Amino acid sequence: MSDQTSMLEVLFTPADALALADLDLADTTCVVFDVLRATSTIVTALAHGATAIIPVAEIPDALALQRQEPQLLLAGERNGMRIDASISGGKDFDFGNSPREFNPERVRGKTIALSTTNGSRVLRACAGAETILIGSFLNLQATADYLKAHPSETTLLVCSGTGHQAAYEDVLCAGALAGLIWPSADEQQAADSAIMARQIYEQSQANLMAALAHSRNARRLLAIPELRGDISWCLQRDVFPLVARMVDSKVIRLPK
Ligand code: MLT
Repeated sequence: MSDQTSMLEVLFTPADALALADLDLADTTCVVFDVLRATSTIVTALAHGATAIIPVAEIPDALALQRQEPQLLLAGERNGMRIDASISGGKDFDFGNSPREFNPERVRGKTIALSTTNGSRVLRACAGAETILIGSFLNLQATADYLKAHPSETTLLVCSGTGHQAAYEDVLCAGALAGLIWPSADEQQAADSAIMARQIYEQSQANLMAALAHSRNARRLLAIPELRGDISWCLQRDVFPLVARMVDSKVIRLPK
């Protein structure tokens, strides 16, 4: 572990996250959070044996990739629901964005293109960063351990949000990660945003499910019977001790 001083900041809004596409991120590590549900889905798929996930912004991008690589599977949601032929212009996607769909039987050895409303777009916006990691409660400690072992000049905890708004669950998870890597971040170098996120998490950590009453996204999923179970899935802590990193536009599981 290094003592190198690093700047730690949380980006709360999708507008801040998407603006990263225009910045020089050569010395920056971005950890992207879309707890409900894109980053939780990516981590689950990799834990269950998927070879890689390719985040894409738009549905036609996913379809174009599949034309080049016919074995590629397609995943994604619009308004929370699986992209079907009526939305894509003729093609039912193989998966929605429910992490519980990505079971070992369906994903082992597969590469999957994923298009979601916020998470996959934010991952694309971070593409120029030195390091891009996928953050979720499912792999939080492993991600923290990686950050402590590989410090960057700047670490951005990037919340994908819901639509155009900040998402409570992303801020909670970013705050939890900020708390885990705090000892290696110089207090002087932690932005106010990191302190705010950490405090929100500390106030809520005893009952994350109750805290999600503040989450628009959680309320939306709770209202859809078949997707309700995604919330407790995505709040599981450290069940998949893996580091997920985007390299050349593919998210892969790093070897131990
Ligand atoms: C997103 O990318 O905005 C989300 O993951 C949305 C969802 O899963 O419903």
